[in-house]
Amino acid sequence: MSKAVYAGTFDPFTLGHDSVLEAASKLFDEVVLAVARDTGKATLLRFDERLALARDVAARHPNVRAEGFEGLLAHYLGQTGIFTLVRGLRNGTDFDYETAMAHANETLEPRIHTVYLAARGEAALVSGTLVREIYRLGGDVTHFVPPEVAAYLARRPR
Ligand code: COA
Repeated sequence: MSKAVYAGTFDPFTLGHDSVLEAASKLFDEVVLAVARDTGKATLLRFDERLALARDVAARHPNVRAEGFEGLLAHYLGQTGIFTLVRGLRNGTDFDYETAMAHANETLEPRIHTVYLAARGEAALVSGTLVREIYRLGGDVTHFVPPEVAAYLARRPR
């Protein structure tokens, strides 16, 4: 049975992430959507909010489950025993960042292989930064995030 972990901060989970998750759920028998608590970034959404939204999104797919993790991703993968790591790629900037991260993860845990899935079409133009800014300034994020996330953000105090 093929298994993969799709890890991220997901602050918030966007349509870009959704396009990668959709592809991963077709390519692998089982996918764990792993939400990082420790990302080194100040996040808009708390860890519990990011995890709850990941669970809502995962519920759409019978072979996807969401989990949170603390500490290093490489250690988490060692604990799960799943060593295929999925990451989305939008452009050359992502590629530079991702190859450095893949190298670090593979150095920490040599059994890890990172698989890149290209974000498709308009989803490749979405970024968490843009969504957070639109949300903070009172705009409508419906076109950039899945319906579960849009519904939550609409009722969350800004
Ligand atoms: N389409 C559109 N946007 C995408 C995308 C896609 N397919 N894939 C990523 N993005 C965007 C996100 O919206 C986000 O944008 P932002 O920077 O403007 O907010 C950005 O790309 C990356 O976010 P995300 O996909 O959530 O991942 P991340 O890079 O924040 O995740 C972790 C990084 C969680 C995997 C990493 O920090 C980690 O492993 N943390 C644990 C600690 C650790 O092990 N650190 C060392 C790692 S070597």
